[in-house]
Amino acid sequence: MRLVLYTGKGGVGKTTTAAATALRAAECGSRTLLVSADAAHSLSDVLARNIGPEVARVAPGLDAIEVDARVEIARHWGHVHDFLVSLFRHQGIEGVVAEELALIPGAEEIATLIAVDEFARSGEYDFAVVDCAPTDTTLRLLTLPDVAHGSVRLLLKLQRALARVVTPIARGLSDAPLPDSEVFREAEALVYEKLAGLRERIAAKQTSVRLVVTSERMVIDEARRAFTDLCLFGLHCDAVVVNRLLPEAAARESFFGDWAKLQEERFGEIERAFAPLATLRAELGEEEIIGCARLGEHAAKTFGATPPDAVLCEPPTIRFSKRNGRGVVEVPLPGATLDALDIAKIDDSLVIKTANAARSLALPHTLASHDVAEARLGEGVLSVYFDARPVGG
Ligand SMILES: Nc1ncnc2c1ncn2[C@@H]1O[C@H](COP(=O)(O)OP(=O)(O)OP(=O)(O)O)[C@@H](O)[C@H]1O
Ligand SMILES: [Mg+2]
Repeated sequence: MRLVLYTGKGGVGKTTTAAATALRAAECGSRTLLVSADAAHSLSDVLARNIGPEVARVAPGLDAIEVDARVEIARHWGHVHDFLVSLFRHQGIEGVVAEELALIPGAEEIATLIAVDEFARSGEYDFAVVDCAPTDTTLRLLTLPDVAHGSVRLLLKLQRALARVVTPIARGLSDAPLPDSEVFREAEALVYEKLAGLRERIAAKQTSVRLVVTSERMVIDEARRAFTDLCLFGLHCDAVVVNRLLPEAAARESFFGDWAKLQEERFGEIERAFAPLATLRAELGEEEIIGCARLGEHAAKTFGATPPDAVLCEPPTIRFSKRNGRGVVEVPLPGATLDALDIAKIDDSLVIKTANAARSLALPHTLASHDVAEARLGEGVLSVYFDARPVGG
């Protein structure tokens, strides 16, 4: 199943663009699902009809849902959650506070993604469009399966080891609640099946992130940082949607003339800054774009002959190679500058840090025993060179 996630700064038009894309795809014949992953759901407002946590048909070939993350959490790891709540209660933490504490950080985001993944596996849809929360949260959402997988797995190992020794003794001695096998089974399923599955889904070529921007400087800058960070995590972006561009008729009016000129300059800047992504133009409507009829018109103008569910730009990928006898890791990092990056080799991994995010890349066996020699950045690709000789060799 093709999956497209829309993100961007608050208020730029993510929900509108996501809904318009989904509607257009359904009109073009794709069985489409529109999903809200933003805790502040607003599909109901944009579609001008009530959308809830159950799938609802909104147009021929188009279903929509606002995922209720709490319900999903209860469904997937209710036992783990209940155990944590009982443990906190035992320690004297009461009611709502215990409930809140028991929410594993990022659990709501993960639960939402798991719901999307289940729809993808169901075979009922060709295309899912996800309306995400503003940039920072989306980044967290998409990088979580990667981060959580490692840390939860470690935790699980420790717990298992501990339980084998401590549980039989403690059962006899303490009245503190202890995790039973169901808790472990659920936690393991989370790590080995669900998180692993999500990592695959998110990194798949069939999954793309689209950035929605307007022509304001702050909006563009935030999207550029997001683009770099998404690339760092190997997530594929395929397009930028430039929203609220003045239509030609308005640009001819003297009052808007300068504004329209500035917008065109910025549009050129956006095309260059986000190359090789596709750039789509979305016009400012005469009024708010609410309801299927207006969304359909807006989508037709924005996409024209472009299929809304196509992969609009082939994603670059991380490459390991050899040059002049030295190992090289090439990481596509458009928009990054070398002095804003921290690069270090820690154990068998290469750690790359930007201002907002850090990723640990497992190195192939042949490079793991070599130190980093130098890093270069050119044409949006970070090349990290390794010493020709292994450490101590
Ligand atoms: N091209 C446009 N022309 C006219 N109105 C627009 C356009 N794009 C968005 N809007 C309006 O701007 C408002 C905000 O849009 P929308 O809800 O899609 O933004 P958002 O990025 O999803 O916001 P949030 O960050 O709050 O989720 C809505 O009232 C919407 O109808
Ligand atoms: Mg929104």
